Amino acid sequence: MLKFDWTNAKSALGDAGALWKEALDARSVLLNRSGAGSQFTGWLELCGKDNRSQLSRIRQAAAKISEESEALVVIGIGGSYLGAQAALDFVRSPNYNLLKKSTPDIYFIGNGLSADSLSETLALVGDRDFSVNVISKSGTTTEPAIAFRIFRELLEQKYGREGAASRIYATTDARRGVLHEMAVQEEYTTFVIPDDVGGRYSVFSPVGLLPLAVAGVDLDAMLNGAQTMFDGLSSADPAVNLPAQYAAVRNGLYRQGKTIEVLSCFEPALRFTGEWWKQLFGESEGKDGKGIFPASTVFTTDLHSMGQYIQDGLRILMETFIKVEQSGYALQISADEANADGLNFLAGRDMAWANHQALAATAAAHLDGGVPNMTLTVPDRSAESFGTLTAFFEAACGVSGYMLGVNPFDQPGVEAYKVNMFALLGKPGYDEVRRKFGIQA
Ligand code: PA5
Repeated sequence: MLKFDWTNAKSALGDAGALWKEALDARSVLLNRSGAGSQFTGWLELCGKDNRSQLSRIRQAAAKISEESEALVVIGIGGSYLGAQAALDFVRSPNYNLLKKSTPDIYFIGNGLSADSLSETLALVGDRDFSVNVISKSGTTTEPAIAFRIFRELLEQKYGREGAASRIYATTDARRGVLHEMAVQEEYTTFVIPDDVGGRYSVFSPVGLLPLAVAGVDLDAMLNGAQTMFDGLSSADPAVNLPAQYAAVRNGLYRQGKTIEVLSCFEPALRFTGEWWKQLFGESEGKDGKGIFPASTVFTTDLHSMGQYIQDGLRILMETFIKVEQSGYALQISADEANADGLNFLAGRDMAWANHQALAATAAAHLDGGVPNMTLTVPDRSAESFGTLTAFFEAACGVSGYMLGVNPFDQPGVEAYKVNMFALLGKPGYDEVRRKFGIQA
């Protein structure tokens, strides 16, 4: 069960009653599919029990991958990888590949153009048996396409063309795109990203489900957790409809000049939850000259770097803490006879307790410093908690985007860099743009 506490935001908020009413109206626009971009709200339905027919195919594919491969290379960028990486870190560990385990190592690549990163991943996979899950909704994105070319060649050298094809799993559009065409021609096992689900809302589709099944994550528990949160959206009770509450509070603070929201967690395993969250809110809300800028930190380490600015810099910040109630490990601080470090006042205390005290101390300090804040508490780092938290943010983002007056489901701004990049990379058809850069066609 997720808890949402906005006590530390109340005094900065403005008219909370009016904001709540507005949030409920925006929620209705989302659920009635009457707002801008409503054709991309299929993610609201992904987790229901009736929509889990794909799970058995996904589990079969995961079992085959685990049986014949020591490593799975997951190729995708943005919404086609951040959710799976976030879930893997959250539920298993950011050190997943280093753990002793019975499931394959998982490498995420194709999420940039770094030769170093690609080369290191090639070296890490080494001569072990591996499979590839290439994920691209459009099927045309440059970064994953380049990585796929490299890993496909490697698979073909190792296993021959047919053998390679049997180790490639393509997650893409049902009908369109180069990847779809290749998958049909080469007879790759294919999973479909529904037309009405955009990349950043796709973690509960095969985009997230296949890599997570390979990692041994309990998919049903994750989807059950998410569904509870989506069900809550229908309620007009603020104690049940937590996403609408969060949307109301963050929009209220934004209107009071808090234009940056920092998502702060106290577990390194949630670093990628922050990365996923930044994409979700950044791409959904940052448009038409508007939007709350999403930033993220991992405390307590970042209290020793970003802490100064948050406490004392420009007063345009709001903050959302994520608290994980129950640690995976019980680790006690011991007593020391000499007490040379002066830490005996902590003897017998659990590290998790110390971490929670640090969160409470930070929330109070930041409030005193003029940073209104909210706290989300999840019970643990289980698959169910990940599902609940992720669905909370997705639902809140839809409501919040409509409160802000934007279409939360498009991303026109992402195209601008691509046009220039294609021109500079020499792609045919971009002569006019090349002239802008003073390059001969
Ligand atoms: O959320 C989005 O739409 C984007 O981040 C995409 O997921 C990203 O650009 C990758 O696109 P594609 O899956 O088409 O390769």
